[in-house]
Amino acid sequence: MIDLQSRSISDTHAIAGAIAAVVRPRDVIVLAGEMGAGKTAFTVGFTRALGVSEDDQVSSPTFTLVHSYNSGRIPVLHADLYRLNSLSEVADLGLREQVDLGAVALIEWGDVASEVIGDALTIELRHDDDDDDARDITISVEGHGWDSRWDKLRESLRQWSTQ
Ligand SMILES: Nc1ncnc2c1ncn2[C@@H]1O[C@H](COP(=O)(O)OP(=O)(O)O)[C@@H](O)[C@H]1O
Ligand SMILES: [Mg+2]
Repeated sequence: MIDLQSRSISDTHAIAGAIAAVVRPRDVIVLAGEMGAGKTAFTVGFTRALGVSEDDQVSSPTFTLVHSYNSGRIPVLHADLYRLNSLSEVADLGLREQVDLGAVALIEWGDVASEVIGDALTIELRHDDDDDDARDITISVEGHGWDSRWDKLRESLRQWSTQ
């Protein structure tokens, strides 16, 4: 587990950028945290760091469910499960199939459907009680997909570490 503190949205963008620097095709990243925690803000920083064109405006896929961005180093799928009611609806999005073709998926509220989503890097963002612009961020992993990158990831996030 890696525990971080973000003091501003630009910290969150930079943290997302550091994670994007070590991401590989077929990675799944679950974004957990309540409304307004910064899941979409994380996605903005992540896609920018992968070189997604600024013309591809990253916005919340709350209504369209999945957005895809193909102008960066790796194709990115950005999903938001908030409005889905069942695990079969999540399965119907076909995220796993698209990830298997070489995309990386960022899934807001993905923690509620971990049975369908499978192995993932989970980024949990939490509001700070004392500071509106701060977020506590915990990174954890399910599966072995990040084993060889974990030390490098921790090192690249050291400036935000609370450990
Ligand atoms: N440290 C921070 N990290 C991320 N967002 C922050 C931070 N501080 C303030 N914010 C604000 O919190 C809001 C996060 O919104 P958003 O990313 O849409 O959340 P979510 O997708 O989790 O519902 C934005 O208005 C953003 O400017
Ligand atoms: Mg969002």
